[in-house]
Amino acid sequence: MIRVEHLTKSFNGQVVLDDIDFEVQEGEILVILGGSGTGKSVLLKSMIGLVKPDSGKIWIDGDEITQLAEKELLKIRKEIGYLFQEGALYDFMNVFENIAFPLAEHTDLDKQAIESKVKNILEVVDLEGVERKYPSELSGGMKKRVGLARSIILGSKILFCDEPTSGLDPIRSRDISDLIKNISKKLRCTTVITSHDIRNALRVADRAALIRGGKIVAMGTQAQMEASSDTFVRAFIQ
Ligand SMILES: Nc1ncnc2c1ncn2[C@@H]1O[C@H](COP(=O)(O)OP(=O)(O)O)[C@@H](O)[C@H]1O
Ligand SMILES: [Mg+2]
Repeated sequence: MIRVEHLTKSFNGQVVLDDIDFEVQEGEILVILGGSGTGKSVLLKSMIGLVKPDSGKIWIDGDEITQLAEKELLKIRKEIGYLFQEGALYDFMNVFENIAFPLAEHTDLDKQAIESKVKNILEVVDLEGVERKYPSELSGGMKKRVGLARSIILGSKILFCDEPTSGLDPIRSRDISDLIKNISKKLRCTTVITSHDIRNALRVADRAALIRGGKIVAMGTQAQMEASSDTFVRAFIQ
């Protein structure tokens, strides 16, 4: 279970996250919704210790991570699959090497075992036959799939995806959203996705939270969000 308690973060006197409080249940998919610049990436990065909050606590399973030293954080990060908004693939490595990287770094698997795992995961994300291609040779949607493959290759039970549909056309946005949902449910991951793409977000989410002005202004299932009496929430959802 993940729990964020009274999280606050400012940059240069500007409050970005203002007393953010929520829980993600085991196996649940939570989508954090909000317009551009509302602090979604800052929130997600805080949840893996890449951003230090000004105050508040973040529990990842049993660990309160805001107080951890870098060495302990590295251990926690190994347990979390993270799909970065920008993809964050290594341009100088081909697809195979990108996906194999966490295995080479964090496991003792031999070459053969790594090859078989990468082959498997490429099937899972529907990307067979592109092992030798470099990121610059891939479409935006394919890059997202490679990033997703790399984020789940260690078998993490927690998956964070930052704007997985940004920069993609509507069909590819829907495909990657469905893929994340399928993978998350199949692997029983506790999943947090940030998005400004309301339609796909509600497709995949068990619950959604809407951020505005640094606060969560609505949170719940699709039906609960749609039934909200808040005019901003209703406007955002329509
Ligand atoms: N490292 C940083 N230093 C200064 N300001 C930052 C930093 N990271 C994010 N911000 C600011 O915090 C706000 C929220 O950013 P972000 O979380 O990236 O928004 P979103 O992901 O919702 O589009 C923005 O105004 C951004 O400029
Ligand atoms: Mg962002």
